[in-house]
Amino acid sequence: MIGTDIGHAAALLKRGALVGIPTETVYGLAGNALDGAAVSAIFAVKNRPTFDPLIVHIHHWEQAAKWVTNIPPAAELLATAFLPGPLTLLLDRKALIPDLVTAGSPLVAIRIPKHPMALALLEQLDFPLAAPSANPFGYISPTTAQHVETQLGGKIPYILDGGPCAVGLESTIVGFDPDTDQGIVYRKGGTPVEAIEHLIGPVQVQAHSSSNPLAPGMLKSHYAPRVKILLGEIPSLLSQYEKQRVGILAFQHYSPGVDKAHQVVLSPSGDLQEAARKLFGALRYLDNLQIDIILAELVPEYELGRAINDRLKRAAAE
Ligand code: TXA
Ligand code: MG
Repeated sequence: MIGTDIGHAAALLKRGALVGIPTETVYGLAGNALDGAAVSAIFAVKNRPTFDPLIVHIHHWEQAAKWVTNIPPAAELLATAFLPGPLTLLLDRKALIPDLVTAGSPLVAIRIPKHPMALALLEQLDFPLAAPSANPFGYISPTTAQHVETQLGGKIPYILDGGPCAVGLESTIVGFDPDTDQGIVYRKGGTPVEAIEHLIGPVQVQAHSSSNPLAPGMLKSHYAPRVKILLGEIPSLLSQYEKQRVGILAFQHYSPGVDKAHQVVLSPSGDLQEAARKLFGALRYLDNLQIDIILAELVPEYELGRAINDRLKRAAAE
């Protein structure tokens, strides 16, 4: 069931049930992070392998010290500048966090979502929320309550509807080198790498390896629609695939000669924030058409464009 009753969602979570929750990035599948049964249920509902750890969502930064043993100065700077917001920090965990949440890692991923409904919900709870994106493992992340309902509605009692997600891409995940404290970006996301570097200096970006053991959810083939996606220059892809029923995902312009209902333009004005907001909904829309193939183009490779391109490449990976 979809609704806007935060008290009801809180009551369900206190009983150990799972709830779909809005965040500014994507919708999450939330459960009590301290309750092993609730955490197991998250993995089961998503059909997610237990080697892929979960992000722990808290209400305010002062609470982080309760769950982690050490906060490097660079983490403190990032938290002050960007939280609440689309940034997740990987920090040394305390033993209070169940092993299942971190997949046995000594690090825990901490995030403070910016969505007012998520914050109001967290405020009513005396435990943090483990919440992966509320999609079946490997599929496109949900950016509306309806997306969650379509795929997981039969498996969870309630979905809090907070409207379409304002950012539309998952949080950027940042860890710190244990020897130098240098920032390491494990997943590009809603906080641009440039903004992070502006604050803490150059970071390593490790988000592109095809099977990164530290961020197993970042497998190369992820965010994948059922319909095959091809990346390239759209006019040349169109001439190659003219005999097929095609869908088009373009940054700014429609292509002549293809039904507009089979095309999505992410941002006519070239606004990367608008493109980010629309990306996952666009992939879902195209994936539900009667087409053979989705032809897509990359966006400019800076700021949010880097995260958009990362998702497009993963969606296109075999
Ligand atoms: O924006 C977001 O981060 C959303 C919303 C719901 O908060 N959540 C999200 O969760 O994207 P999920 O589970 O779909 O992706 C979390 C990623 C996974 O790829 C996982 O590998 C990584 O975070 N992660 C979580 N805990 C980790 C840890 N202890 N060490 C390394 N990577 C971790
Ligand atoms: Mg996910």
